[in-house]
Amino acid sequence: MAYKPTTAGAGGSGSGSTQPNLPEPAAIMVASDIDEEEVYIQDDDDDVDSALGDDASSVIHSITSSILEYRTIGGRTFHSEKHNSSYFIPNDEQQLQSQDITHHYLTMLIGDKLFLAPIPENVQRVLDIGTGTGIWSIVFSEAYPNAEVIGTDLSPTQPLWVPPNVKFELDDCTQPWTWSENSFDFVHMRYLFGGIADWDELLRQAYRVTRPGGWAQSCEADVDIRSDDDSIPADSPFVTFWNRLYRESQPKLGVSFQPIDDDVQRKAFERAGFECIEVHDYKFPIGGWPADKRLAEIGMYVQMTMLNDVEGYTLFLWKTVMGENTPGYEEELAKMKKELKSKKRHGYMRCRYVFGRKPYL
Ligand SMILES: C[S@@+](CC[C@H](N)C(=O)[O-])C[C@H]1O[C@@H](n2cnc3c(N)ncnc32)[C@H](O)[C@@H]1O
Repeated sequence: MAYKPTTAGAGGSGSGSTQPNLPEPAAIMVASDIDEEEVYIQDDDDDVDSALGDDASSVIHSITSSILEYRTIGGRTFHSEKHNSSYFIPNDEQQLQSQDITHHYLTMLIGDKLFLAPIPENVQRVLDIGTGTGIWSIVFSEAYPNAEVIGTDLSPTQPLWVPPNVKFELDDCTQPWTWSENSFDFVHMRYLFGGIADWDELLRQAYRVTRPGGWAQSCEADVDIRSDDDSIPADSPFVTFWNRLYRESQPKLGVSFQPIDDDVQRKAFERAGFECIEVHDYKFPIGGWPADKRLAEIGMYVQMTMLNDVEGYTLFLWKTVMGENTPGYEEELAKMKKELKSKKRHGYMRCRYVFGRKPYL
């Protein structure tokens, strides 16, 4: 298979596992090499194999240096100031690893599937909003080689070497979408919590670009850690650190971290005009405590994604809620990690999948 570089980015890719035996790119464009505002070169001849070194056949998406001027907080990098968004999760390698593990537990959770919406086998154009490492887009494009997949994100954190039917674009999905009306068969949105203030507007835009008869799907987590057997006491760091930071930062950041209780997805699908809407709720354990083997495996991946980067999920929130220079963060992190490993705690989080169809004309 010929892989074409689609993004000249910071080179961070947490998706290496999806690309076995791929050669390293001969040269990676770095920010200082790039002068143009946006350069986009595409060759129309699909028969030319870019792996043979023909530059004209490659899609080269070079980007402004400003977009690579990441903000650094406590040694972690966050998306460029070029975007208005105050998105709270870093975009560095440590976080990208957690995103790829998250992809794994989410696909397991829904029965080893990539999506729940009943899209047709011959799906043609697919849009993945807030693609992160691009792992969903890449796996989808491999499963549907005849589909054209576009993944977008605030940061160019996707791999350079990807299947020829997927490409990545920098885009803030809270700004007006530039794609034509009725131009996608499937719009996929997953784990955008913390990045979206106005879900109605997001789904209005998704509705506009979905073709009649096409589908949109949203998966979001409610990251409040809870238990059904009172195994999490009120003084657990799950409550005093994690849940507190997420709850108290909501009004400050102007976003909801409780999309299920606030029912933001379903309402937005309905208001946008989608029909045949379905809502599917899941609980996912934190740790391998469930008796059910499959759930225990899912729980261990959840534990792994959190242990790998508790800092990435909380650093920005700590500064938002507690103030810029409040001491004690490292101690709280250590307590949280210890709690994540405790077999006494039977914690879980919830997530909700919502999908709907744009009515036929
Ligand atoms: C938790 S990651 C999930 C990545 C991917 N959707 C997945 O499920 O594997 C959230 C991603 O959404 C992106 N994001 C957040 N706000 C965004 C916005 N306003 N526009 C585009 N992407 C955004 C972040 O940059 C990040 O890469």
